[in-house]
Amino acid sequence: MRTKFKAWTKPYLEEHQEVQLSLEQVRNLEDNIYLEIGSGKGQFLLDMAKNNPDLFFVGIEKNVTCAGFCAKKLVENDITNAKIMFNDAIMVLDSFKEKSVNTIFLNFSDPWPKLRHHKRRLTASSFLDRYFTILKDDGKIIFKTDNVDLFNDSKEVIETSKFKAISIDEDYGGNDSFDAQTEYELSFRNEGVPIHRMILVKR
Ligand SMILES: C[S@@+](CC[C@H](N)C(=O)[O-])C[C@H]1O[C@@H](n2cnc3c(N)ncnc32)[C@H](O)[C@@H]1O
Repeated sequence: MRTKFKAWTKPYLEEHQEVQLSLEQVRNLEDNIYLEIGSGKGQFLLDMAKNNPDLFFVGIEKNVTCAGFCAKKLVENDITNAKIMFNDAIMVLDSFKEKSVNTIFLNFSDPWPKLRHHKRRLTASSFLDRYFTILKDDGKIIFKTDNVDLFNDSKEVIETSKFKAISIDEDYGGNDSFDAQTEYELSFRNEGVPIHRMILVKR
C-alpha cells in the first residue's frame, strides 16, 4: 500500500502545531508516555487516545502525507492526549528523557526486505538500544506485523539484545483490550492475513 502524496498535508501540518510536539517539548514531557513509531495515517493513535483519556500518546511519522492525515484526525476529534511528531524516529528518539516511556508500539513497520536495508527496520539493534534507554524498567514494546520474514528476523535480533519476548503470537486475534486496529491491520484482517504480535520487556 503506497501512500499517494497529498499536497494539502504540508500546509495543514504548518497550521496545526497544536496537535504536534517540537523536540524542545519532547525534552520536557512528563513520564509515562505511550509512544507509537510509524503511526501512518493515525487510526491507532486516535482510537487509543479516545479509549484511554487518562494516558498520553505520542506518534512519530516521517511521511508528510501520513502525518498530515494523522494530524487531521487529532484536530477533528478534539484530541488533547495525543500528539504527532512529523519526523524520522532516528532524529527524535534521543530527545525523550531516559526511562520516560511506558510502552512503545511498532505497528506494521516497513519490512525493508533487502539485507542491506535491514538496519532501517524499526526492530534493528540500533533502534532497540535507543528504546532501552527511553523505556521505563517495566516498560514494554508491542510489535504487530503481517510480515513473517520481518517477524522471524526480529526474533533473532531480539535474542542478542537487552530485551526478551514475553509473548509471541503468530495469529493474534486482536482481542487485547489495550489495543486498537491500524489502517494496515484492518486491510490485512479483511484479506484473512494472519497478524503476528510479540511483546518485549527488558531482560
Ligand atoms: C507500513 S506503514 C504502517 C502504518 C501504520 N502503523 C499502520 O499500521 O497502518 C509504516 C509507517 O511507518 C513510517 N515509518 C517508517 N520508518 C519510520 C521512521 N524511522 N520514523 C518515522 N516513521 C517511520 C512510514 O512512513 C509509514 O507511514
